[in-house]
Amino acid sequence: MHNFTFHNPTKLIFGKGTITQIGKEIKQAGLKKALMIAGGGSIKKNGVYDQVTGSLKKNGIAFTEVWGVQPNPILTKVEEAIEAAKKEKVDCVLAVGGGSVIDTSKAVAGGYYLDNVWDAFENKATVKKALPLFTVLTLSATGSEMNSGAVITNTAKKIKTHTGGKVLYPWSTILDPSVQTSLPWEQTANGAIDALSHIMEFYFTGEHDETSLSVNEGLMKAIIEVTDELQENPKDYDLRANLAWACTLGLNGISAGTISYGDWASHMIKHGISAVHEEVAHGTGLGIVFPAWIKYVYDSKPSNAEVFLRWAKTVWNADSVDEGIQNMKSKLIQWKKPTSLSELGIAELDEIADVIAARGELGAVKTLDKNDVKAILELAK
Ligand code: NZQ
Ligand code: ZN
Repeated sequence: MHNFTFHNPTKLIFGKGTITQIGKEIKQAGLKKALMIAGGGSIKKNGVYDQVTGSLKKNGIAFTEVWGVQPNPILTKVEEAIEAAKKEKVDCVLAVGGGSVIDTSKAVAGGYYLDNVWDAFENKATVKKALPLFTVLTLSATGSEMNSGAVITNTAKKIKTHTGGKVLYPWSTILDPSVQTSLPWEQTANGAIDALSHIMEFYFTGEHDETSLSVNEGLMKAIIEVTDELQENPKDYDLRANLAWACTLGLNGISAGTISYGDWASHMIKHGISAVHEEVAHGTGLGIVFPAWIKYVYDSKPSNAEVFLRWAKTVWNADSVDEGIQNMKSKLIQWKKPTSLSELGIAELDEIADVIAARGELGAVKTLDKNDVKAILELAK
């Protein structure tokens, strides 16, 4: 078993009716003025905005607002929000939304102290200091509410990539699963696929880590089971709460556990697809890429091939890895998700492979170069 450090400083407040605690959290931290960052308006329709602003006012926290963060969030919005943070002299950032809003807020919190925020995404600058960040999560998927990573797209350069740093962990996150009953089915399914993918990124790099492999199998099975049930009963609070907690555990360090850093090739390939096709939602892309990655890497006979077979047997009740992949694809089809790039009208595989390869080799279970990436895209075609 590998040595490891587990340190997650985010305070998570979880459950029905918890959003009204956000003002108190900020006040107790001794802060006075927040830059509230939000997306396209869902929080106004489902009452989250009123709960948040009511709590801020009650606790004497001043705030100013930046709206319009889009799914697959972009650098220009980050820059706009950093400007607003400086002009309005805020002392903290409050993200209210899903992963895109939280990632934008992390980039703003760290970018506030950098000459050029994009430098942090190209490893030309390190995020050593950040404005305190608070989040109210409205979509369980990314784990961003309880981790230190942020993913942003530079549309001019056609690069979607991440930065991170321990100062980017949210100070407090409020996760009220009841506000997720307003999610369209597609977003719920995307969230489940993203969380499954985070767990698989770690799982497939495992070897003799019985505890972590078992924890991750339990999480994967729970996600599949509650997502199936949510497809029938989208308003059920307990199902929402179970999916939400599993998604957070998928990328807050718990699923990593004793397993090393993870593989992340599937994520990088998917980011390349979104860099060329901004409209491809994160979960949608992962559902197409991950089965192709599993097939390609397993067929290359990795040293931990038995973990792939264990995944097929334990998670998908299958006798072979190919059957496991088929069962996973059948599940995606049941969840009304595409399983091929052609279903999304994506055909420019060479251009996507170039974009991905420009970032260097990727993967840990198997190191992938441009030819490997192209082969995986062909399998995903
Ligand atoms: O824009 P609004 O109005 O907020 O609507 C959003 C958006 O249209 C909507 N939504 C959110 N909560 C809702 C709701 N609609 C109704 N009711 C609610 N309660 O859902 C849409 C998608 O939101 P988005 O934030 O884009 O989704 P998600 O949370 O899946 O975030 C995806 C982004 O996170 C990145 C992805 O690459 C992608 O850019 N990731 C971040 C990670 C991290 N920081 O750790 C790791 C992940 O692997 C991932 O890369
Ligand atoms: Zn992801």
